[in-house]
Amino acid sequence: MNHPQLEPAWIGKTFDDFLFRPQKGIAPTRSQIPLTSPLTSSLSLELPIVSSNMDSVTGRKMAETMALEGGLGVIHRGQSIETQTATVERVKRSHSAIIENPLLLPLRATIGEARAFARQHNINGILIETMPGSNILAGVLTRRDIPWQSESDRRPVEEFMTPFDELKTAPYPVSADDADRIMFEGRIERLPLVDSDRQIQGLITRKDLRFLRERPYASKDSKGRLLVAAAIGCTGDYIERADQLASAGVDCFFVDIAHGHSAVLEKAIEMLKTRFPEVPLISGNVATGEGARFMRTLGADGVKVGVGPGRGCRTRLETAAGIPQLQAIREVWCAVGGEMSIMADGGVRYDKDIFLALACGADTVMLGSALSGTDEAPGRVIEDPATHTKKKIYRGMTSPEAVLESLYETSDNDALDSALDTPAEGQEMQVPYKGSVTDILHRIRGHLRSAVSYAGSETLAGARAQILPDPLAYLVPLTPAAQRESYER
Ligand code: XMP
Repeated sequence: MNHPQLEPAWIGKTFDDFLFRPQKGIAPTRSQIPLTSPLTSSLSLELPIVSSNMDSVTGRKMAETMALEGGLGVIHRGQSIETQTATVERVKRSHSAIIENPLLLPLRATIGEARAFARQHNINGILIETMPGSNILAGVLTRRDIPWQSESDRRPVEEFMTPFDELKTAPYPVSADDADRIMFEGRIERLPLVDSDRQIQGLITRKDLRFLRERPYASKDSKGRLLVAAAIGCTGDYIERADQLASAGVDCFFVDIAHGHSAVLEKAIEMLKTRFPEVPLISGNVATGEGARFMRTLGADGVKVGVGPGRGCRTRLETAAGIPQLQAIREVWCAVGGEMSIMADGGVRYDKDIFLALACGADTVMLGSALSGTDEAPGRVIEDPATHTKKKIYRGMTSPEAVLESLYETSDNDALDSALDTPAEGQEMQVPYKGSVTDILHRIRGHLRSAVSYAGSETLAGARAQILPDPLAYLVPLTPAAQRESYER
């Protein structure tokens, strides 16, 4: 591909420096405008929004909701390998069309154990196998079968479950329509999938099928499970972390360090690409064309762009390093656009910034503070006793608080030494409590569709194809007075 030069008009520019010149609208209705965009060459998102790998933004609940809404969550790495892997496993297990490795208890387990097991894993039905490890279906025990009285606690589950002969089952694989019909006709909520030897092959629940049907745009893998990504570093125990995450079924690695255009990444990406060629890899962060080319040469599938624009970042204040975010996005597009996917990361304050990022070069946009303060973000709601206003904490991953907390979790001495050696480049702050992130994503989806309509297209992909070769032809640079007119309310 011919790589265009970055035009001088981009230098020093970021989101608030431009408006988009409205084009003749051609979309018959905004509510149907498709927003599909590539995450990597093998994965795409129906909503090109990714939640940040930050401990105050993406845990299990955020990752599940992001995927259900058509986006993606990246589980942060400021936690032990076990905790991060367990989170990925839980997301993969949640809402999947087929649960491939259902949780099992043996026939001889007691009702007391079954009650604790159901509570621990938050499940309503347990498949019972004949013997530990046999994987041969003996029956199904549902919460309704479990007596409340503790005097039954020592009795075996066998006395309370529905035995195999009375169960409806199906072979693996089975289509969603067939599974739905069998469950409807049998008035049952879960359908075990078994082979001719009663070997358990999977489980389908009606709740999950219904849920997925209501969300046709959910981000799913080829097996119908929700997509989830995870962040890893590039020193210390990162290979072990990657190994565990890959076994848990992670869909994409994010090799994430503050200054991605660094020699330390070379070995890491080479190792990861050799050991896990099947797992797509997005790496960053960079803010320059050279940084993006470096990532492409290393073989990364995508590059994450943004040095210092984030709300919790102090990098620019402490080190003077950084590139204004819209310039960085455009510079990276000029360097590697069309050859690897580009994710804009940080600095989005208004929904219009998302469209500008996409129209100037990004395929997807990562959000931190915009999704923080929600029910799905980790952490508690704090209520001010005087004003009764509700808040949550949002913090940079190199803020002293985040670093301190991750140190409790890690057994990686390299990470420990380097964290203790490096002064903070992030900060913690309180943000207003915002309710469910689903409402925020709904709003973003609506605003993106409107932006596409103003851009004179029927799809986001169409708008980008038209604008990307020359965004400056569509952008209006703003004077300070025009900025006041546009943004001061
Ligand atoms: P927003 O603006 O969406 O930015 O809140 C989220 C992005 O900020 C980055 N990040 C940091 N940058 N020091 C930094 O310089 C930090 O401690 C820090 N923590 C997060 C990260 O790229 C995130 O996605």
